Amino acid sequence: MDKEQLQQIYTQEEYYWGREPNELAKRVSAFIPEGGRQGKKLLDLGAGEGRDSVFLAKLGFDVLAMDFSSAGLAKARRLAEEAKVSIRTLEGDLNDWVPDAEADVVYSIGTLQYLHPENRSRQFRHWQDRTAAGGLHVLFAFTRHPDVETAPDWGKNEYLYEPQELENYYPHWVTLASESVIFDCSSSGIPHRHAASILIAKKPT
Ligand SMILES: C[S@@+](CC[C@H](N)C(=O)[O-])C[C@H]1O[C@@H](n2cnc3c(N)ncnc32)[C@H](O)[C@@H]1O
Repeated sequence: MDKEQLQQIYTQEEYYWGREPNELAKRVSAFIPEGGRQGKKLLDLGAGEGRDSVFLAKLGFDVLAMDFSSAGLAKARRLAEEAKVSIRTLEGDLNDWVPDAEADVVYSIGTLQYLHPENRSRQFRHWQDRTAAGGLHVLFAFTRHPDVETAPDWGKNEYLYEPQELENYYPHWVTLASESVIFDCSSSGIPHRHAASILIAKKPT
């Protein structure tokens, strides 16, 4: 979907992606136990309407929700208020945005396909450089798969990853999880399937 479509969707009252967190957000806590979360800086790249940012803030993380949609971020702030947690929000474009502070966790789901292939090496390197030693990247990216057709609502500004491409950006990090998944989806109202990679990697200390 392009920015205008997303802005339009996000101006509606209903939460298009829902209010409940993704399963991947729940997995972050498995790697960072309760005592280690308070105040740890977590960056949610492409946070949308904030369902994961708010969930992760509830777990104790100091969350910066980044997205290029102001309307999405406004809903994220509203969701945080309702949940009585605080999150910070920032408008930016994945394709050139460099954080000005170090993060302990960089998290992203459903968004990395908007990072153009020619920008990927550079942007992953920036985000890695601005991650604390021992910090985690918890990432999900849609991938090409011979048995999975392109989704009906796939936009011209979205680019699939090759299988193993995410892993290739992390040659010197410790891989904690590297998974390929295929799952059903009904965004846009038309049932379809997606293939994706999940990578959880730790920066060496
Ligand atoms: C499928 S939604 C996922 C939102 C959220 N992560 C979730 O799971 O609910 C993808 C998000 O990426 C954001 N996005 C798309 N292109 C972007 C870009 N170039 N820079 C920053 N955010 C972008 C969209 O505004 C949208 O909120």
